[in-house]
Amino acid sequence: MKTIVFLVGFVSFLTLVLAAPQITSANDIVPLKWPCPLEYNIDPCVCTADEFYNLTMNCSLVQSTADLERIFQELFPFIHFLELIIDHDPTDITNQLEEIHAHTFNEVTFERIIIRGTQLSLVADEAFANSHLYLRYLDLSNNQLSAYPFESLPEYDVLQTFIIDDNHILELPSLDSNSLEFFSGSGNNNMKVIALDQFSLAPNLREIHLSRIGMTSLNTGMFQTLSKLEVIDLSDNHLNDLELFALMVPEQTLTNVNLNYNYINYIRHEAIIGLKPTAHLLMSHNNVTELKQDQWEHIFNQISDGKLNLAENPLTCGCDMDWVMLDDDNSYLPIITDTTTCYGGQLVVFLEIDNFCSKCTGNWGVCNA
Ligand SMILES: *[C@@H]1O[C@H](CO)[C@@H](O)[C@H](O)[C@H]1NC(C)=O
Ligand SMILES: *[C@@H]1O[C@H](CO)[C@@H](O)[C@H](O)[C@H]1NC(C)=O
Ligand SMILES: *[C@@H]1O[C@H](CO)[C@@H](O)[C@H](O)[C@H]1NC(C)=O
Repeated sequence: MKTIVFLVGFVSFLTLVLAAPQITSANDIVPLKWPCPLEYNIDPCVCTADEFYNLTMNCSLVQSTADLERIFQELFPFIHFLELIIDHDPTDITNQLEEIHAHTFNEVTFERIIIRGTQLSLVADEAFANSHLYLRYLDLSNNQLSAYPFESLPEYDVLQTFIIDDNHILELPSLDSNSLEFFSGSGNNNMKVIALDQFSLAPNLREIHLSRIGMTSLNTGMFQTLSKLEVIDLSDNHLNDLELFALMVPEQTLTNVNLNYNYINYIRHEAIIGLKPTAHLLMSHNNVTELKQDQWEHIFNQISDGKLNLAENPLTCGCDMDWVMLDDDNSYLPIITDTTTCYGGQLVVFLEIDNFCSKCTGNWGVCNA
């Protein structure tokens, strides 16, 4: 890149001459195009600056790696950008952006990179290397990636959000990042999540989304080191039974655990540990038939002010759940959402207490009253 300082002034002069005479609100002398590169040099990318000179580069109309590389060879008066957007319609076959190389963006840096819906199948190790100190947000969803250089994650000092949904990633390696708070890898069908240190090297994670990946089982203690974890989304997978410590975090931090659309029938006592009292545990569209006290009481006790959604499960609503229906303090039933029904369609919250009193054994205070 021709970053020769005296040229910058010349370019700003050129911009004054060439750009439409728009004036910023911040300073009545500077034309709006400054500090963007010259429009015709970066066409079809569009650069915009806000009143604070935050620069955004929208390259959604770029159709190939070669075009992108040509554009970033041009003279950029400023190389620090807030955002890069390449948002393609994946069904448009004229879009052929397939690779991003180490030199593709030249010296330009970004705080946010959004590359979506492209034919991208290769991202080089050093593709965003100049942004190591700046990149906070990386969204590479809905591309054609079967691999990503995850080993470079620790080099991004401030990366908080990483979204790589709806690609074809084959295996998720251990994520190693001190800054990462939000990770989403949903929609990578049959992605293996089997690394030993899957998340333990990313201690600041608050949200993990792994929906629609065909997951059949969970590594024991996969989340057990994550003391800030609030959201776990494992919906729409093929999970069967939840074994001991399957979803365990060290503190009571979980606010939302989404297990909707799985095949869960059986939950071992102490399978889910670390729910906040107000947490929502979503388990609609599963295969839960019974709410046995030795399996479920532990969960109800954690979410005393929260909600358990068991809609669309084949609940038999028999004496297995008498402890929920006949509890003296009525502290369990309000936790079950009013969308939860029995196998026959009756709403659980409206079941007749008398039926449980007459059919189930045990000396229940509410039955003797
Ligand atoms: C733009 O920059 C200013 C000052 O540097 C900052 O306060 C503001 O949040 C930025 N805007 C965005 C959208 O990040
Ligand atoms: C980026 O440019 C494309 C094509 O001109 C446009 O459709 C899209 O709305 C732009 N996106 C943003 C966030 O400005
Ligand atoms: C649902 O659970 C029952 C056992 O209660 C089991 O026989 C059946 O195969 C399960 N169905 C699915 C789809 O997992």
